[in-house]
Order: sequence, then C-alpha cells, then structure tokens
Amino acid sequence: MEVVIEIKNLKKSFGDIGILKGINLTVKKGENVVILGKSGSGKSVTIKCIAGLLTQDEGSLKVFGEEIKDLKEDELKALRCRIGFLFQSAALYDSMTVRDNLIFPLKRVLKIKDNALIESRCIEVLEAVGLADAIDKMPSDLSGGMRKRMGLARTLIVKPEIILYDEPTTGLDTITSKEISNLMLQIQKKYQATSVIITHDIPCSSITADRVLIIDDGVFIAEGTHEELENSQDDYIRSFFK
Ligand SMILES: Nc1ncnc2c1ncn2[C@@H]1O[C@H](COP(=O)(O)OP(=O)(O)OP(=O)(O)O)[C@@H](O)[C@H]1O
Ligand SMILES: [Mg+2]
Repeated sequence: MEVVIEIKNLKKSFGDIGILKGINLTVKKGENVVILGKSGSGKSVTIKCIAGLLTQDEGSLKVFGEEIKDLKEDELKALRCRIGFLFQSAALYDSMTVRDNLIFPLKRVLKIKDNALIESRCIEVLEAVGLADAIDKMPSDLSGGMRKRMGLARTLIVKPEIILYDEPTTGLDTITSKEISNLMLQIQKKYQATSVIITHDIPCSSITADRVLIIDDGVFIAEGTHEELENSQDDYIRSFFK
C-alpha cells in the first residue's frame, strides 16, 4: 500500500522548549490514524508540520514522497491543495453565506470558474455532510454541530487526498459527536481519503481509527488499534481512554 505521510525523528522547539522530541509516523493511503494525547503535548503542532504550516527543526517529513521543508513556495502551494485541514475552531467566514463559504476555496484554491460546476460541488458536499437545506443560511444561524459539519464541508469541497482533523467533535454533545465521527468514516470510504485525526473524544477514536498513537512528552509512547490500547497492560496507556 502506498505511503502518503512519512515522518522520521521529527523535532520542533519553540524557544528553549522542546515540543516534538523525535516523532516517527508512517500513514498509508486510505488509513485513518488517530492521535491521542494530553493538552499541550504537541498534537496540533504535529499536524501543522504535516500541512506545511510549521517547519521542523530536525528530522524528515515527507508527504506524497516530497520532503516538505525542501519545497519551493509554488510547490508547497500545489501540495497544500491536496491537503484539507479542519482547524480546531471551525474558522468560517461569518459575513458570508454557507454557499459563499464553500465557493471561496473553490475559486481561490482550485481556480474553478464554471458556475454550474461550482454549484453542483457545493450541493454534493452539503449533501455529504447532511446540510443541504442550509445553503443560503449565514454561519451565525447554524448550531455548533452544524458549524462543525459546515467546516467539514469546506474542507472536503476541494476533494483533498489527505484530511487533517484537529478535534473535530470537541464541544459537541455525545450524539452529535457520534454523527460527526460516522460522517468522517463515510468520507474516508467515499473519497478514499487518508486522515490524521486529533481527538480527546474516545468514542470518536473508537469509531474512526484504523490505528491509534499516543503522544506524550514529545514522542509517541504507544501504537495499536483502539481496542488494543484501551485494553493495554500498561495503566498509563489505559488512562488515556477514561
Ligand atoms: N507558534 C507557537 N509558538 C510558540 N509556542 C507554540 C506555538 N504553537 C504551539 N506552541 C506550544 O507548543 C505546545 C504544544 O501545542 P499544541 O497546540 O500542539 O498542543 P495540543 O497537543 O494540540 O494541545 P490541545 O489538546 O490543548 O489542543 C504548547 O505548549 C504550545 O503553547
Ligand atoms: Mg491542539
């Protein structure tokens, strides 16, 4: 199976403070990998490095076989078009309708000008996240769960090959969290996307993960299926699942 993300001995500090102290991770095409870890352990920093938003101090980080830190600006831009990032805060444009929020990346990132194609892509993606009726609404008229779905729609509309999810279900009730998690699973199947999912939500991990890694003090300390880690012999590993 094709390797999509390959990270070797990745290190990143801010000032004197080491955050990533030697991360190793290989993600294959079509896999859903979940990263669990305490607040401040470097989860968001890790996926920001994968998206090329932060550059590591040491180590290698290849996406689609390309060493990110060696890419020229236009090459990095082209690569970023293939990566969707669902930020920790949904980051919608509040002054634009749902439709215009979706059109924006299509025009800006993909430079699509065909209005019929734009409209059909908007409808397709809203149907995929169950928000077809909200196309003319303003983001402020959406509930928290709908905003998460909307953020997901905006991430998906450019048909990314890799999706980086930063806490996709945080702040949602249990039922809506499960709906979003199931949606992520459907998206993996429908678009054959490869995903790295950061979450504190154990049911989300259980639903979406093919593989789970636990980050602690700047390194991955455990790796396995959700079930394996949840039933680990190690009390500390098990404590992440409570
Ligand atoms: N641009 C930055 N400049 C300085 N420090 C940063 C920067 N980005 C992150 N950090 C620091 O790196 C550490 C890890 O941050 P990160 O956002 O990766 O945590 P996290 O694991 O995602 O936590 P949470 O679960 O709370 O979102 C934190 O101490 C944070 O303050
Ligand atoms: Mg974070």
